[in-house]
Amino acid sequence: MISIILGTRPEIIKMSPIIRECENQNLDYFILHTGQHYSYEMDRIFFEELELPEAKYNLDVGSGTHADQTGRIMIGVEEVLIKENPDVVLVEGDTNTVLAGALSAAKLHIKVGHVEAGLRSFDRRMPEEINRVLTDHISDYLFAPTDEAKKNLLREGINEDKIFVTGNTIVDAVYQNLEIAKRKVNALKALDLNPKEYFLVTAHRQENVDVKARLKGILRGLELIHEKLSLPVVFPIHPRTSKRIREFGLETNGINLIDPLGFLEFLQLEANAKLVLTDSGGVQEETCILKVPCVTLRDNTERPETLEVGSNMIVGVNPESILEGVKTMLDKKTNWENPFGDGKAGEKIVEILKIY
Ligand code: UD1
Ligand code: UDP
Repeated sequence: MISIILGTRPEIIKMSPIIRECENQNLDYFILHTGQHYSYEMDRIFFEELELPEAKYNLDVGSGTHADQTGRIMIGVEEVLIKENPDVVLVEGDTNTVLAGALSAAKLHIKVGHVEAGLRSFDRRMPEEINRVLTDHISDYLFAPTDEAKKNLLREGINEDKIFVTGNTIVDAVYQNLEIAKRKVNALKALDLNPKEYFLVTAHRQENVDVKARLKGILRGLELIHEKLSLPVVFPIHPRTSKRIREFGLETNGINLIDPLGFLEFLQLEANAKLVLTDSGGVQEETCILKVPCVTLRDNTERPETLEVGSNMIVGVNPESILEGVKTMLDKKTNWENPFGDGKAGEKIVEILKIY
């Protein structure tokens, strides 16, 4: 029996190909939702749009400090795992849900599979980096998306027998949903946008938006792009970021702030954007897959493959650097190769779990 643990927007999206595969093969599995994300547009909407089965358990942990949230997830997960006694627990990515789920399982001697193992930003200021490193070291199956990720794991002394390079399930999710999006939604019309005539933005990283000067730099950079390049700047805003903008009393001139979107709508906006600016991990990957140029509002990335193929550029949060980065990326060709796999990562992961 497989226990799929998830709790936030990107985990629901990136686990969806694995859940579909478990459904198709009629496998014995259940979903354990920690409730780390709980607002309709950060959680429920993805179950509806991706037509995912209901979670068997929802721990409803909600928000909190790192220790509080991680601790409450561990207590809830432990209780469910003792009751269900699955053969393997799957976690995806680098959130507090991932570390707490993996740690609870490992202490119960239940095998842990880490989907998207081996990513490293080498920046311990990021809570995600700590979650990734610790989760990798207590996992039994490490599903690395790329050879680069596998190399990081080998460098840290992780046994090669445990590592499987599968591609990233985000490729599966993009391929599976792009056509569905075309049939079901018209996000550009709803926002009165023309293809390739707008910029799309997301930002939510703790080390960016919880620091007033950095968030201010990002917002000023977006205003500058709107002024100099005369195109709409559309920003579906993460709840953490809108809260901080209010608290810090920052201006958002020239930016079209909207509520977070469903995956189908967001995917469509991404595919048709002139360029995307982001500090999201998943969005750096999706733009690379969709052949849309990306500018990353950070000082580093755990997705170096995007820099190597030329789909992405790191610009930090200085307004002038953001504008320069956008201009540089707009001059480049978009004929790079997708380094994240063939869209069959979900299938591969399930097959590996069946064999081992
Ligand atoms: C979390 C992950 C991050 C991931 C992101 C995906 C950690 C440490 N962080 O960040 O790695 O990239 O999810 O989006 O696990 N909030 C709501 N509604 C919600 C969820 C959150 O309003 O459904 C607000 C609350 O004010 C909360 C804040 O957002 O305090 C932050 O939520 P939290 O889950 O702590 O972290 P994220 O920033 O969402
Ligand atoms: N996303 C979405 N709606 C939005 C913004 C993002 O569906 O309004 C999707 C996006 O396509 C990607 C995922 O959410 O698949 C990325 O999540 P997020 O940026 O919150 O987290 P990260 O990838 O940084 O962990």
